[in-house]
Amino acid sequence: MKIAIASDHGGFEYKAKITEFLTAQGIEFKDFGPASTESVDYPDYAGPVARAVANGEYDRGILICGTGIGMSIAANKVPGIRCALVHDVFTAQVTREHNNSNILAMGQRVIGEGLMLLIVKTWLDAEFEGGRHQKRIDKIAQLESCNG
Ligand code: RB5
Repeated sequence: MKIAIASDHGGFEYKAKITEFLTAQGIEFKDFGPASTESVDYPDYAGPVARAVANGEYDRGILICGTGIGMSIAANKVPGIRCALVHDVFTAQVTREHNNSNILAMGQRVIGEGLMLLIVKTWLDAEFEGGRHQKRIDKIAQLESCNG
């Protein structure tokens, strides 16, 4: 699995923790930045990650900002992206099983580091269940093309 990851200044420390985790797990990733805690605009980082996942270059994406909200709103503007804003283990699991979410967004100011890493692990391990959920994913795609 290839992961695209980015943050803004508000998520920089957790991005570093996640890349450490991915390295330890032997999971391939690309860090789309930023390279420091200097103030940046989260859409400038959500966009490249979302496009890289939507075009198939990367299997999944992870985006961290202060709240996770700005990143998730921005990523979900890119057709084909189902970005889930997650701050608990239950929804980390279920958003993969039911929504087939392809980007995980979290807020560094919202949850502690231990929970954040458990969410990442849960979300990476969980599989889409398909079946009745596929029909619903298809309806989301129809909304993107304004045929909904
Ligand atoms: C940056 O101050 C902050 O607004 C950003 O990290 C994020 O929380 C936006 O949703």
